[in-house]
Amino acid sequence: MIIKQITSSETLIIRHKVMWPTKPMDFVMLPNDENGKHYGLFVNDKLTSVISIFIDDNIAQFRKFATLKEHQGKGYGSFLLEEIISLLKQEKINKLWCNARVEKTNFYIKHGLKYTNTFFKKEDIEYVIMERHFN
Ligand SMILES: CC(C)(COP(=O)(O)OP(=O)(O)OC[C@H]1O[C@@H](n2cnc3c(N)ncnc32)[C@H](O)[C@@H]1OP(=O)(O)O)[C@@H](O)C(=O)NCCC(=O)NCCS
Repeated sequence: MIIKQITSSETLIIRHKVMWPTKPMDFVMLPNDENGKHYGLFVNDKLTSVISIFIDDNIAQFRKFATLKEHQGKGYGSFLLEEIISLLKQEKINKLWCNARVEKTNFYIKHGLKYTNTFFKKEDIEYVIMERHFN
């Protein structure tokens, strides 16, 4: 199992399959993808989990975090997110945040993120902004 930086195009198949399979592929492309850093976790050379990081003025947002359905619940997402957290700490980033699907908030709490008061709904999915400050 290894984590490598990948291109945004390489993230698209997993983003699409896992997050928005009923939408066209364009739907999972982000307008600022080219400004992001994209990471993939490979298991036996197969891309299995992806995450995209956008840094703005010492604050990092992660987006489009997804693990192939058949490989969820095996610890891959946790491993990838923890690796990202340690990279961000090394880079002296002050804060990590995300628009979390409300159904996934327990997962993020395990990784040190906390609820903010900002909740919203998009495409019938409930979200809350979660964040973690680093010292
Ligand atoms: C969110 C997501 C990326 C997590 O990836 P993952 O590879 O499944 O993550 P993990 O396997 O590390 O953790 C998933 C769960 O399995 C549990 N788990 C991890 N390793 C485990 C193991 N060896 N045995 C049993 N359970 C385990 C974790 O504790 C976690 O539980 P929780 O969801 O109740 O907190 C994945 O669920 C996903 O792609 N979801 C769909 C897309 C999505 O919702 N993305 C996030 C938008 S905010």
